[in-house]
Amino acid sequence: MSRISTTVENSSMMKALRKEQTASKPVWLMRQAGRYMKEYRDLRKKVDFLTLCKSPELVSHVTCEAQEKIDADAAIIFADILLITESLGFNLAYSAGEGPVLTSEHDSLFSTLKRPSREQIFDQYHYVAMGIEKTRSSLPENIPLIGFAGAPFTVSAYMIEGGKTKTNFQKTIDLASKQPTAWNHLMDVLVASTIDYLHMQIEHGADVLQLFDSWVGVLTPTQFDQWIKPHVSAILNAIPSHVPVIYFGAKTAHLLENIKHLPCQAFGISDEIDIQSAWAKVDHAPIQGNLNPEILLTDWKTIEKETIKILDATKNKPGHIFNLGHGILPQTPVEHVIDLIQLIHGYC
Ligand code: CP3
Repeated sequence: MSRISTTVENSSMMKALRKEQTASKPVWLMRQAGRYMKEYRDLRKKVDFLTLCKSPELVSHVTCEAQEKIDADAAIIFADILLITESLGFNLAYSAGEGPVLTSEHDSLFSTLKRPSREQIFDQYHYVAMGIEKTRSSLPENIPLIGFAGAPFTVSAYMIEGGKTKTNFQKTIDLASKQPTAWNHLMDVLVASTIDYLHMQIEHGADVLQLFDSWVGVLTPTQFDQWIKPHVSAILNAIPSHVPVIYFGAKTAHLLENIKHLPCQAFGISDEIDIQSAWAKVDHAPIQGNLNPEILLTDWKTIEKETIKILDATKNKPGHIFNLGHGILPQTPVEHVIDLIQLIHGYC
């Protein structure tokens, strides 16, 4: 059922991922379907977040509605990186003020954690597969659909810390550094289930994948090479070569020279580094980023100035996908997002 459409392949996003010239620069925004949009907030008054994630009809609706409203050049399937933890025996809840809360019966070394079978992943996440199918068939043909998963470190940080953490991931770092056997077991289970989960997304119509390693920036380059790289590489090596993968982590300027060795197509760049230096650090491989999401809370003059800085720095060089350095903030005015994308499309 894998699906290769020539129109998707010729889209500006896919071209940029192959470092080909495009008529206009591709742009999409992390969390483009979300609380900054009134339509989303209205829907969320009627349905809770997990129910929404598990309703293919609604998933397709919010994914397509956001892409169309802001005129993005790609759509990212509406889901969450923590859904995978349900197949690992976690009880997952999202509370309005606190964000995700994870609980389980596992001991602190996760010795009872078992790898779910491929069939279990395909069964349990059938709703994601159906959401992808519905979205793919509703999206304009030339708009790539991005599937995604969390990378093992970032997902494990929520499993270990139990949800949002204000501790700089100390428990996670302690497990990785002091309990290597337990850490490797946890990583192996996450790697295997993430591969199955991403294969399922490809089979059902995802054109591109993004691997979110949002919190990897808290690690040093040595820790990255030791604890992260082998596991992320195992996932990336299992993805068929016709499906491009973008690896994203926030605050990773100090890790880019390590990250660039990962076997993926493109690298997400967050906003603590200027795009030109970041691009040099990854040897001018395809990149995605990196407007600071807080800029979208300011006035149009500032937004325009900061956006043009990035556009000028990447002008006439193929292989840049415009995005934010991290997800859109919920308080962002939607008009700023629409105008931003218009500015990027109109820039020559
Ligand atoms: O448009 C999109 O980007 C698609 C969907 C998407 C969501 N989460 C929806 C969501 C994606 C790609 C994610 C990824 C995700 N989820 C990440 C990696 C990206 C990043 O921001 O670093 C992380 C760390 C999570 C975990 C997560 N989910 C947190 C920490 C929270 C609470 C904090 C917050 O932003 O509210 C969520 C909830 C969540 N995931 C919401 C959305 C739209 C808000 C839920 C709501 O409607 O109340």
